[in-house]
Amino acid sequence: MRITMIGAGYVGLVSGVCFADFGHHVTCVDNVEEKVAALKAGTIPIYEPGLDELVKSNVKAGRLMFTTDLKAAVAEADVVFIAVGTPSRRGDGHADLSYVYAAAKDIAHAMTGFTVVVTKSTVPVGTGDEVERIIRSERPDAEFAVVSNPEFLREGAAIADFKRPDRIVIGSEDERASEVMREVYRPLYLNSAPLFFCDRRTSELIKYAGNAFLAMKITFINEMADLCEKVGADVQKVAKGIGMDKRIGDKFLHAGPGYGGSCFPKDTMALVKTAQDNDSPVRLIETTVAVNDIRKRAMARKVIAACGGSVRDKKIAVLGLTFKPNTDDMRDAPSLSIIQALQDNGALVNAYDPEGMEAARELLPNVTLGDSPYDIAAGADALVLVTEWDEFRALDLRRLKPIMKAPVLVDLRNVYPADEVHRYGFEYHGVGR
Ligand code: NAD
Ligand code: UGA
Repeated sequence: MRITMIGAGYVGLVSGVCFADFGHHVTCVDNVEEKVAALKAGTIPIYEPGLDELVKSNVKAGRLMFTTDLKAAVAEADVVFIAVGTPSRRGDGHADLSYVYAAAKDIAHAMTGFTVVVTKSTVPVGTGDEVERIIRSERPDAEFAVVSNPEFLREGAAIADFKRPDRIVIGSEDERASEVMREVYRPLYLNSAPLFFCDRRTSELIKYAGNAFLAMKITFINEMADLCEKVGADVQKVAKGIGMDKRIGDKFLHAGPGYGGSCFPKDTMALVKTAQDNDSPVRLIETTVAVNDIRKRAMARKVIAACGGSVRDKKIAVLGLTFKPNTDDMRDAPSLSIIQALQDNGALVNAYDPEGMEAARELLPNVTLGDSPYDIAAGADALVLVTEWDEFRALDLRRLKPIMKAPVLVDLRNVYPADEVHRYGFEYHGVGR
């Protein structure tokens, strides 16, 4: 199968290289020349564990190519995936579909023979209809079908998620296209990943409903964490206690500083907008969005309280800046709002992240970036763990205590047991414990 992937970002690059690894012939197209030049030179523009080696081996095997030439890449493809960004539209929170529609137009002019055009980007219900309309109006003669195939991978675990998905959702109303999609995913199907076929609109909504449900689940446990703090209960045990009920499940019940990232915030907002436009508001998700928004600054207030009620002219050391571990992605990271709120209250913020430093230099110009946890903790009034990278899980507290001005640990991911931290003479503040 000859596959062309439009957009070589987190989803396009991971999906493209995994398809190549299954044995398909894949060309990844991106319109950012530096990105394509870097990929051609063997440099991976994003941090995703395992991606480097997988790209190298598939390029070497001759199954994976990179180009800016969309026309040539689409002309030879049986299947063209659209994996471009769908960020929040500035001003109103709807999904910005301009990149998707621009790609559809370019694809229309480049297609030859029967081509299956697949939206892998997360797109609101009805986008497939519009992509079909655009292609049809640009190329009335073309033989094609538009399919929805949302992606459910998580950053930081993207390759494993893509290769061993819980399910593959395919929204198709064309039998010939459904056959092609079966062939594309056949290697996974043999690994017994279920293919779930439905109509295109249902498939588009499944993606938003899934992300919104997970965002709601996280927000639920975050509110339980706040209640635990008020009534003297332990949210980790509450999560365990309810998670053992198979109807609830134990995943996505880690209390923390609020969900962030390039997807949950924008996708929950886009679902709210779609629902409002269709006179069918989704109040639970509206509330989820609102509760999560205020949570991030509330985490800064937790730090202020831990510092005795004021952080003015105090030095706060922040561990972890990316929205989750094992990625360099800083889009909508909780650290951004927390640091801003601390600075608004007069704090001097130092920070360190294993992979987020390059993005942080641009996004956080007033933060002093250090080389290690110990570097930023020197002279600090509090150490705040915001992102649970593995290298922060076993900090040398014995070494940290004498170099800090005050031994205060605010652990927004509940990584440490309080009694262990107390043993080293630290004051400990977790979430919901
Ligand atoms: P991204 O910004 O990392 O990548 C998008 C890429 O598309 C960029 O490299 C951009 O240069 C390129 N591009 C844009 N227009 C183009 C065009 N006309 N021709 C060629 N290239 C073009 O975005 P992402 O995180 O990979 O997300 C892509 C889509 O997948 C979004 O809809 C997102 O919601 C969805 N998604 C993302 C994830 C994730 O974990 N990041 C997971 C599931 C779904
Ligand atoms: C999420 C979904 O998990 C993927 O299935 C989906 O494909 C993707 O969005 C998408 O549509 O882009 P991702 O954003 O990469 O993936 O990462 P998650 O692991 O879901 O974490 C999202 C946010 O929730 C992070 O800020 C994380 O710290 C937070 N989170 C997650 C919690 O606070 N508690 C949890 O229990 C789980």
